[in-house]
Amino acid sequence: MKPERGPLRVALLGCGVVGSEVVRLLREQADDLAARVGTPLELAGVAVRRPERVRAGVDPALVTTDAQGLVTRDDVDIVVEVIGGIEPARTLMLEAMKTGKSVVTANKALLAEDGATLFAAAREYGADLYYEAAVAGAIPLLRPLRESLVGDHVHRVLGIVNGTTNYILDQMDSGGAGFNEALEEAQALGYAEADPTADVEGFDAAAKAAILAQLAFHTPVTAADVHREGITEVSAADVAGAKGMDCVVKLLAICERVPSEGGRNGRGVSVRVYPAMIPRTHPLASVREAYNAVFVEAESAGSLMFYGAGAGGAPTASAVLGDLVAVARNVVGGTPGPVEVTYAKLPVLPMGETVTRYYIHLDVTDEAGVLATVAEEFARHEVSIQAVRQVGLGEEAQLVVVTHRAPDAALSAVVEGLRGLDSVREVASVMRVEGEE
Ligand SMILES: NC(=O)c1ccc[n+]([C@@H]2O[C@H](COP(=O)([O-])OP(=O)(O)OC[C@H]3O[C@@H](n4cnc5c(N)ncnc54)[C@H](OP(=O)(O)O)[C@@H]3O)[C@@H](O)[C@H]2O)c1
Repeated sequence: MKPERGPLRVALLGCGVVGSEVVRLLREQADDLAARVGTPLELAGVAVRRPERVRAGVDPALVTTDAQGLVTRDDVDIVVEVIGGIEPARTLMLEAMKTGKSVVTANKALLAEDGATLFAAAREYGADLYYEAAVAGAIPLLRPLRESLVGDHVHRVLGIVNGTTNYILDQMDSGGAGFNEALEEAQALGYAEADPTADVEGFDAAAKAAILAQLAFHTPVTAADVHREGITEVSAADVAGAKGMDCVVKLLAICERVPSEGGRNGRGVSVRVYPAMIPRTHPLASVREAYNAVFVEAESAGSLMFYGAGAGGAPTASAVLGDLVAVARNVVGGTPGPVEVTYAKLPVLPMGETVTRYYIHLDVTDEAGVLATVAEEFARHEVSIQAVRQVGLGEEAQLVVVTHRAPDAALSAVVEGLRGLDSVREVASVMRVEGEE
């Protein structure tokens, strides 16, 4: 029989929105967590930047500004990193693993920028590195990809992984608000930060897309590999255009295996974030307000949908605690968890090679032959048209064109060409269409 072991000691790095909820859950659920792990989890210390701040429920004796000293202490078994950002988080996590501690983190920015260094350290030092909270907050998504689906062949991951932008686009769709008005409302309600750049420019979603693509396709992907477009250019006219097509505009993170003749793995992967129209009948279309949802398509499992709260202190802390219990069980059992493998080494293909569909709204002149001239521009770049609709007559004439799937570079060339036509007064709206073949 194994000897009884003492409590497992946890160092918490950061005690903000997420960290303070981790402390609360550790305290309120201490008995249940001890029973589930097989030994109590005990806070060894809490590293913060401003120690003078009053923190409800945190023993002041545990608070320190010496994060480096805390992670290397001999009486610490597991480190939970919820500081965020690149440094000092990276150095602290590497230091922790070097001294034999397993790490739980919610740090999407760091994992997407330099996950390879962290995974290499985890392998070298035999430490666990768990990061469920880094993507889609409370929603169990990374463990299903990392463990449940690891025997399957994932084709596509398509998701709404940023609650702030989903809230803004939802307001634009349901209330007819413009982007700025919807952003201000999101800020007033606490859904958007005072500086919303990371969310509205798609940086946050791009980091998550990189993490998802890496796990889904076992291939190295960083945030820099992700094609990224934010939602600041989405206009009320785009949203109205989508409505006219029975679609809704969503900021999507799309990770796709690009098929090749023969090879099962495909010739590469496409990883991208941009606002796109999806049909109202698609399951992602019904994801409202600040919720997140991710749709996974795998060869044998078929289509799976993961839905829930993608951020917030308590939901994110739930994911952190799940990882903490998993890591603690591994420590108690003496068996490390899964290590990341990126054996597939598939290239991340440039956006121009990505095959997608376009919706194009044109303001055209009132003369004969306009339709033929416009159609010729599509034909010139070998983009086939799925549907054309004329809206209005005479001076008010507008054309709405929806294409079949074509390489993005060809579609961009068509739009450039259309802008140069005398018969096209304005290319009023261009948006990709996703979620159907
Ligand atoms: N908030 C969410 O909904 C959410 C959702 C998913 C993932 N995440 C991720 O979770 C992590 C934490 O986010 P958060 O929202 O909890 O951030 P936060 O509220 O800004 O908290 C950050 C904490 O880190 C501490 N800190 C900052 N710099 C430090 C340093 N150099 N040394 C020691 N402590 C330092 C801060 O100390 P002070 O308290 O003294 O300022 C604060 O306690 C990030 O990686 C974020 O991306 C957050």
